[in-house]
Amino acid sequence: MYTSFNETTFDKIITLLKSHQPQFVSGEKLSKTLSLSRAAIWKNIKKLQSLGYKIESRPKIGYRLQTNTNLLLPWEISDGLQTDTIGRKIYYFDKIDSTQNFALELAQKPHENGSLVIAERQTQGRGRLNRKWVSPKGGIWMSILLKPNFESSYISLFPMVTSLALAVSIEKILKIKTELKWPNDLTIKGKKIAGILIDASIESNKIDYIIIGIGINFKIKPETVIKSIKNNQRNYGITTLIKKDQKVNPVELVQQFLFELEQSYNNVVSDSIEKIRKDWSKRSSTIGKTITATTSTGILKGKAIGIDKTGALLLSNKGKVQRLLAGDITYKN
Ligand code: BTN
Repeated sequence: MYTSFNETTFDKIITLLKSHQPQFVSGEKLSKTLSLSRAAIWKNIKKLQSLGYKIESRPKIGYRLQTNTNLLLPWEISDGLQTDTIGRKIYYFDKIDSTQNFALELAQKPHENGSLVIAERQTQGRGRLNRKWVSPKGGIWMSILLKPNFESSYISLFPMVTSLALAVSIEKILKIKTELKWPNDLTIKGKKIAGILIDASIESNKIDYIIIGIGINFKIKPETVIKSIKNNQRNYGITTLIKKDQKVNPVELVQQFLFELEQSYNNVVSDSIEKIRKDWSKRSSTIGKTITATTSTGILKGKAIGIDKTGALLLSNKGKVQRLLAGDITYKN
């Protein structure tokens, strides 16, 4: 595990190399600036190379950074992050069971409001409705812990706020338009590219903590994921945001997303729920469609006519309007 607050040596070396790019920085300069022996500098450079940084080393000249890493390393995300709370502490894993589980542990500790847990791979990723979430390398798998002082009724707004923030960031950074599929999927041409899972703890009608889990099929092989989930009847197809030959660093997208999420989160705090609802509906592929919903109590059919204040989907059928709080939906062609 690496964090944004412990690995200061890596951070300092990389910052120095970046500020001199494309020039070399001498071993002596690095060692003086960081108050470390030349041998220690060499050891850290080796470690950084293993983390995907291409660093050229020339005897008697020094080191220079050729290309940056594509990993979601915490100091890379922190560098230039424009938030006050979200992502101020970052925990990074190459491999973990589930970022959601780690965030649940953090929730029991003080000073973790806004903490971000991010991983390159998950071995036991969790999806909605107790499903497995296949999380191979190339995706962005993260969880954010929040300890807001809200009433519990606000919880249902979080999937909306999160999916909206993600859609906006994808559009800004990658210039790709996505649709929002109720309750919290992001799709491209009807295929899933991201999903959101909320774990929350409520005490006497107040939110104690909330963990927002976000899974983005950033640069994955859809065939591999589909193979692993073929038993899931409700899988309507998945796709990848970035094709395998495209070179895009995921860090910028994560930074933008954390920023957008914090902005919308502040909107929830200042009570402009109406704006969230409007913005979400504008980007939604669900509103106006005739849908079939599978819920824990049965099947519902109807036309999706809107979202109410709590994030519930409003279904109209034969003049009657029903509220759908949870479930899966499929569109009728
Ligand atoms: C869904 O079913 O659509 C929600 C998927 C949420 C997956 C993310 S990946 C990061 C976080 N850790 C998990 O185990 N799940 C969430």
